[in-house]
Amino acid sequence: MSKQQKYLLAIDQGTTSSRAVIYNEKLQPLAQQGKEFKQHFPNNGWVEHDPEDIWETTLHSCREAIKEAEIEASALGGIGITNQRETTLLWDRKNGEVLHKAIVWQDRRTADYCQQLKDKDLEPFFQKRTGLLLDPYFSGTKLAWLLDNVEGARERAEDGELCFGTVDSYLLWRFTKGKVHATDASNASRTLMMNLETREWDGELLEKLNIPASLLPEIRDNTSDFGYTDKEWLGAEVPICAMVGDQQGALIGQACIEAGMLKSTYGTGCFALLNTGQDIIRSDNRLLSTLAYQLDGEAYYALEGSIFMAGAIIQWLRDSLGMLEEAAESEALAEDIGYEQSEIMVPAFTGLGAPYWDPDARAAILGMTRDTSREHLAAAALRSVAYQSLDLVHAMHNDGQKVEALRVDGGMTENDWFLQALADITGCPIERAAISEATSFGAAFLAGLQSGMFKKLSDISELHKVDKTFKPEISSEQRDKLRSVWLAAIDKVR
Ligand code: G3P
Repeated sequence: MSKQQKYLLAIDQGTTSSRAVIYNEKLQPLAQQGKEFKQHFPNNGWVEHDPEDIWETTLHSCREAIKEAEIEASALGGIGITNQRETTLLWDRKNGEVLHKAIVWQDRRTADYCQQLKDKDLEPFFQKRTGLLLDPYFSGTKLAWLLDNVEGARERAEDGELCFGTVDSYLLWRFTKGKVHATDASNASRTLMMNLETREWDGELLEKLNIPASLLPEIRDNTSDFGYTDKEWLGAEVPICAMVGDQQGALIGQACIEAGMLKSTYGTGCFALLNTGQDIIRSDNRLLSTLAYQLDGEAYYALEGSIFMAGAIIQWLRDSLGMLEEAAESEALAEDIGYEQSEIMVPAFTGLGAPYWDPDARAAILGMTRDTSREHLAAAALRSVAYQSLDLVHAMHNDGQKVEALRVDGGMTENDWFLQALADITGCPIERAAISEATSFGAAFLAGLQSGMFKKLSDISELHKVDKTFKPEISSEQRDKLRSVWLAAIDKVR
């Protein structure tokens, strides 16, 4: 990196939008651009993205951010890509044509296939090798579905004509015009195909899923020389220095780099990751063991609780019920509703994630009376995210992990009322990051680490700042009572 190359570009390709942020050498954001794209729901429980939308919105956001920052792309010292994880793509190795729309992580179409694998008693095997469970969430069964359902795909895959990738690999392929087919260990750890201990594709897992190895990208560290963007895209060849799954990106952005540190990101869903250092902690409570990051060949792990609906519940109040003009209104609406409220929402709109892993559960609002108002519904919706977080904290506790504090980020964390409820209900101090885009922050930091702008991983600790801490204000008796009402509600939807 030359002296003039003093900026970093973070690309955050998320579930509902693609964003690009330009950072300076102190990791201060200079410009930020984003674009939403269409969600396709072709069938009950199916969710797809048009790969061209993923690419176009990404490229557009990068170009606009560079313009807004008033810099030339040649002044960029590196790019860090972070992305929605597990979303599955398949394309032609020669001409880059995709064979199907991307199957999104939320998509439930392989629920029956997962059940068939479970019926063969294979879940313990997959859990041991990958740290994951047999749920449609992960890429492996989605890829198997593509091979079995797109005409000619299996033959072409067996002839070595096709490439599989999660969104990181796909963007890398597009940016380098097909020169590099690679992924990073954090994204690979979400596919059901990577061995968590060796961080290599596992032949036996591939055999069980019937997936040809020739499809798979090379697995690399999170920081690596991933290749250069073709000049056509940004006007200069910019090195791609880092790739990382978005939740692992946020773990780094929140400076949770010591074992025992926990972050939770409240975006479309909510993903709580507890750093477990170089040990793989095997959960007895239906949490996932996953790769946190891999640097210089050394792997660091995390225990993860994944919840499918968080901010998406507020979007539902806004877009489907028309109850809000803007998501931010939920805070003022909920303001006066105390814990005596009888309404309780179980937001199992797309089934339940951790620790229940029940793809067939569906959402419900219980305890409504003639008094129930918009205000009560807004409070019940926000509290449902806090109750789901409590389930994760409990599971971590039961797995022998002590949770001292929770570092939070993501769109919902602008809502103070929600964060106070989160502190009360989980019983943990909640620390809101000064930078709500912790995901891009982490990806940019990794790119800076690779390009030499930062020296070591621990430099992130000085760059991370807490904006505000929310302390629990209710008694543990009251918390236990609330939890028993929540657990009874969960029982009713399953
Ligand atoms: O595992 C799914 C997760 O990576 C999606 O994150 O922020 O796009 O909802 P987000």
